Amino acid sequence: MRIIFDEKNKVFLLHTENTTYGLAVVDDRYVEHLYYGARIEDTDIRYLLREDEAPFTPSVNKRETGAFLDCAPMEYPETGMGDYRESAFCVRSMAGYRASELAYEGYEIEDGKPELRGLPATWGSPEDCMTLKVFLRDSLLGIKVTLLYSIFRGLDAVVRSVLVENEGSEPFYLEKVLSACVDMDDRGFEVLGLFGSWARERHIQRMPLGYGRQNIASVKGESSHQEHPFLALVTPETTQESGEVYAMNFVYSGNFIAQVEKSQFNSVRMLMGIHPEGFTWKLEPGEQFTAPEVVMVYSGQGLGNMTRTFHDLYREHLIRSPYLHEKRPILINNWEATYFDFDEKKLLEIAKDASELGIEMLVMDDGWFGKRSLDDSSLGDWYVNEEKIRGGLHTLVENVKKLGMKFGIWIEPEMISPESELYRKHPDWAIQIPGRDITQSRAQYVLDFSRDEVVDGVYEMIAEVLRSADISYVKWDMNRQLATLGSCALPPDRQGELFHRYMLGVYRMQERLITDFPHLLLENCSGGGARFDAGMLYYSPQIWCSDDTDAIERLAIQEGTALIYPVSAMGAHVSVCPNHTVGRTTPFETRGDVALLGTFGYELDITKLSEEEKEQVKSQVENYHKYNDLIREGDYYRLASAAENRYYDSWMIVEKDKSRALLFCVHVLAEANAKSRFLRLSGLDPEKRYLVEGKAYTGRTLMHAGLRIPAVFGDFKSRLIEIKEAPLL
Ligand code: GLA
Repeated sequence: MRIIFDEKNKVFLLHTENTTYGLAVVDDRYVEHLYYGARIEDTDIRYLLREDEAPFTPSVNKRETGAFLDCAPMEYPETGMGDYRESAFCVRSMAGYRASELAYEGYEIEDGKPELRGLPATWGSPEDCMTLKVFLRDSLLGIKVTLLYSIFRGLDAVVRSVLVENEGSEPFYLEKVLSACVDMDDRGFEVLGLFGSWARERHIQRMPLGYGRQNIASVKGESSHQEHPFLALVTPETTQESGEVYAMNFVYSGNFIAQVEKSQFNSVRMLMGIHPEGFTWKLEPGEQFTAPEVVMVYSGQGLGNMTRTFHDLYREHLIRSPYLHEKRPILINNWEATYFDFDEKKLLEIAKDASELGIEMLVMDDGWFGKRSLDDSSLGDWYVNEEKIRGGLHTLVENVKKLGMKFGIWIEPEMISPESELYRKHPDWAIQIPGRDITQSRAQYVLDFSRDEVVDGVYEMIAEVLRSADISYVKWDMNRQLATLGSCALPPDRQGELFHRYMLGVYRMQERLITDFPHLLLENCSGGGARFDAGMLYYSPQIWCSDDTDAIERLAIQEGTALIYPVSAMGAHVSVCPNHTVGRTTPFETRGDVALLGTFGYELDITKLSEEEKEQVKSQVENYHKYNDLIREGDYYRLASAAENRYYDSWMIVEKDKSRALLFCVHVLAEANAKSRFLRLSGLDPEKRYLVEGKAYTGRTLMHAGLRIPAVFGDFKSRLIEIKEAPLL
């Protein structure tokens, strides 16, 4: 890890273990992107800027770079000055002009990494990371922009954000402040993204890159089920093990845009940041605006290496929870067991049977508060419904504890039901545009979390509940997208700040929650997995992955999620069959094996399981205790994808010291007249000898020749195979 400034060549190089990121100052004015890729040491590399090439050839006119920026690799491109590709920055002055000239002013290199006030971000000690700050200034408007770049010891990632300060005498409006931009030549890139829907989140899609602009975005007020704040450019033929990958992931949970543009000169511009649609931010003299962080990962060894870099970075420098390296309690959640139809008696019955099978925590899901007996009322009335929970919450929790279990609850703090005491008292707390009907979704409105009094009012109610009983876990849900966007408190010229201020309010409340209740295990959720993002991981070590608990549907969802996020963060549960979302019946064993690749738990009425199923719960619980340390802390390797090959799915987790591994394989569909398959393993030490089901192999053999997996009869069958270093002969 090293950051260098070569004074003579005016070149900055950021070296991570195996990669280099470079920028240069041109004409003492422009900051241009030089290079990103495998590590190189030379600083004399300004030829990469093509400074001597005219914008058009043949050209008889003298054209300075500044006269035509459209072919220069701009590090932080602005609107209005002659670069017609997508810009990263757009400002509107009080006079109504939309142009800025951000000229290079200087730099600082420091150990450590500054906090991004009010925002989730990666962190690290002065020994573990370094930061480059590049200062730019528009002297006419008094805008100071700081481009921040941090790198981490032992990790091939560069994280970026942008700080804008008004040092002038007049306000101005920010209309677009993206967080990262990279320009490079096209290498036949393909675009990789994650797409889906409710209950079908984060399916991997690979697309060709054509001329023009392609983007992946959300303007829903959440990172969303549909598109994901992740974009990668990959060279053709990239696999898990080979090919070049340039990836960006946003540490933010609200509106985003991830865009790639292929230009007339076959250059490619990749950008990521807060979506400019619906966004303006008025910056008064003396004020600052911080754009959230983008994590960039370059891998020269395929997607698997990219994945493991993200996993390590997020486990070592993003997730802060004290539970990060802990085996989380195996939980049972009553949602699919009872939906809204439960009382304290039913919950205790579930807890009793669950505790006998080794389950460690009961989670009381939606429906315990106000007068809620369906999804049509009471959000905002955060006090216990004692008609359902007779004797009160404290008594229920104590009774659950007597069974040797912990207790958790579900909340949805950002929402308000029109049918609630809170709405009757504070109708102006809902997001709304006066004179228009407020859009309802799931019979609820969204609270205006841009207002401190709203966040604090809701927080106090929830904190009171948490103080009233011994609550170990909270599932924080968010079940609708934002619409009819207006705040009763913001002035007209600040209404465009609502989306982002809303997110800042959510982050502020989550921060308060984990600060005031440091032992609380927080799990985020959003109608399943609509807010499974790096922003949320800063506050909670785990996120509910999807409302779809079908083991087969989960294969693609978990594959896409684990492409970026550590498996220790994936909320995954065993549920009943026929599955409530797709109606499919899968073996109980397969459901357990699939849920092992995550935080593990149950989401079913355990009192209704057969004796045989209960025995299987016991062995799943045993597997969890046996393998969770390895799964949570190890390296993840994707071996096969049923989404690609239709028939089988396979992954491996390998212990960091390569002494042990776990192989998972599910045969999704049986094939007629099929032979056994040789599954080539990954991540092992080629020199070590390993024992697999009683037979010894070298790592080299297992990785090159493969392990023989017999053909199976019947669909949806899974196997877990432990691989252990063989004792020395
Ligand atoms: C969302 C969650 C579910 C459940 C329900 C309760 O859909 O994803 O797990 O908590 O809300 O209303």
